[in-house]
Amino acid sequence: MEKKIITNFVHPDIEDYAEKHTSPENEVMAKLNRWTHLRMTRPRMLSGAYQGKLLEMISCMMQPSRVLEIGAYVGYSAICLAKGLKQDGLLHTIEADEELEDIITKAIADANLNDKIILHIGEALKVLPDINEMFDLVFIDADKINYINYYEQVLPMVRQGGIIILDNILWSGKVVYEQPKLDKETATLMQLNDLVQNDPRVENILLPIRDGLMICRKL
Ligand SMILES: C[S@@+](CC[C@H](N)C(=O)[O-])C[C@H]1O[C@@H](n2cnc3c(N)ncnc32)[C@H](O)[C@@H]1O
Repeated sequence: MEKKIITNFVHPDIEDYAEKHTSPENEVMAKLNRWTHLRMTRPRMLSGAYQGKLLEMISCMMQPSRVLEIGAYVGYSAICLAKGLKQDGLLHTIEADEELEDIITKAIADANLNDKIILHIGEALKVLPDINEMFDLVFIDADKINYINYYEQVLPMVRQGGIIILDNILWSGKVVYEQPKLDKETATLMQLNDLVQNDPRVENILLPIRDGLMICRKL
């Protein structure tokens, strides 16, 4: 197939219509979203209103006791995922960039979720063995090069019937369309998608939302 980079998998008019018919962010999330676009480098990393609402919906449908996130950035998706937590539920989020610690901590406090979200600063693969929990819901959204490592390390930490969501799984379409030179991230994501597809431990669905979400349910 020809070389192609895609920024919208869904026609922009349809995307726009879908966003206009999706419940909007609350004031706290809208403020965090706006602030991130004004002040941060790479604001595209943010889940944003539409994907954030989907994460919130999934969490609210599941009502999880324990949620894990790998890759917090400014804390936006962690806050969305925490919305559905059971009363005594907890969300662990791991972020490698220590410069983001104060920003995430403030975002969590602004959302009134201090007692619900535990922030771990460090490399996820080093932090994960110290988190002694079984998770109902996991969101993987960090360095793509480690996606297979995250998937394999996290799967035993997920209860039967639990869900793992992996973001950026279509990688701007690079996993589909041939590139002049296959970069390491694209190669890893292609390998992961094939691994998940053939993995008898899960059933899965790939949604072409934003940059692609792979949803896996542990059997
Ligand atoms: C795409 S952003 C996360 C966006 C966030 N989940 C959201 O949707 O709003 C990816 C984040 O993963 C972090 N990250 C990258 N490598 C990591 C690693 N090895 N361990 C933990 N976090 C990492 C980056 O610093 C960055 O903040």
